[in-house]
Amino acid sequence: MNTVPQRQFGKLDLRGSVIGLGTVKWGRNQKVKYAPFELPSDEALVQLLDTAESLGINVIDTAPAYGISEERVGKLLQGRRERFLLMSKVGEEFVNGESHYEFSAAGVERSITRSLQRLHTDRLDLVMLHCAPDDLSAITGSPALETLAKLKAKGLLRYYGVSSMTLEGGMKAVELSDAVMVAWNFEYRAQEEVLRAAGRQGKAALLKRALLSGNLHQPSTGKNLVETCVHAALDLPEVSSLVAGTINVTHLRENAAAAMNWSRGG
Ligand SMILES: NC(=O)c1ccc[n+]([C@@H]2O[C@H](COP(=O)([O-])OP(=O)(O)OC[C@H]3O[C@@H](n4cnc5c(N)ncnc54)[C@H](OP(=O)(O)O)[C@@H]3O)[C@@H](O)[C@H]2O)c1
Repeated sequence: MNTVPQRQFGKLDLRGSVIGLGTVKWGRNQKVKYAPFELPSDEALVQLLDTAESLGINVIDTAPAYGISEERVGKLLQGRRERFLLMSKVGEEFVNGESHYEFSAAGVERSITRSLQRLHTDRLDLVMLHCAPDDLSAITGSPALETLAKLKAKGLLRYYGVSSMTLEGGMKAVELSDAVMVAWNFEYRAQEEVLRAAGRQGKAALLKRALLSGNLHQPSTGKNLVETCVHAALDLPEVSSLVAGTINVTHLRENAAAAMNWSRGG
């Protein structure tokens, strides 16, 4: 069976599928930008993860701010953790329906300890600062990145980076860390310079919102834009992995198929 291609993550010692699995909807359905939905059952998530694995999708993105996502991912990865590249975040907490941000050294350490417990692992592959719109205050105005560097030296994580919000924040993230996660899709290219900088400097570059946050149906033509989105993202050689959020197995297969039939140069 065909599987999703993999890419080297910049010059990092990480190699992962060009489609990743985003897990916001695994754990949280409040204050999200998607159409209303019920959290999936445990059975549905087993099917989703089994399907992802069979398609060769080995990148999983979670975060403490995604409600019960980390606990659910951790439970499902037991016995197969080493077959996945596991990415979580620090800095944002979602409590009682509200986001709070905490980038102190103690807050970052506490968050990593808790993520390791919830994910049943002793090391995370990649940890991102989960930034608020004012991303520079966390990147350059807090001890968060230097704390992640210390935790990396202790072996609790392999690499760290920033899920950035602004062009300036993304450029700083490339300069100061191993990886960046940027909002990019074929209709929103305002931060493409960050991806190019990541490519030049050998840093990992991950995409969020690459599937237009799910608005994939073009009303004027009736066309499904999945393939357009996936191919446009993979045409950028700097992109390590496009993290696509889904709780729908049919969508997962569709996204994987689009990646499998992408070929460089169209
Ligand atoms: N600040 C941050 O760090 C940050 C922010 C946003 C996102 N993220 C990460 O990036 C991931 C993706 O971001 P995103 O959710 O903003 O953007 P996205 O992947 O562009 O969109 C996700 C939406 O697309 C839908 N979808 C996926 N595949 C589809 C298909 N083939 N056909 C139709 N609909 C489809 C999903 O619905 P179904 O469930 O119905 O498939 C979901 O509602 C998140 O899960 C998260 O892991 C990080």
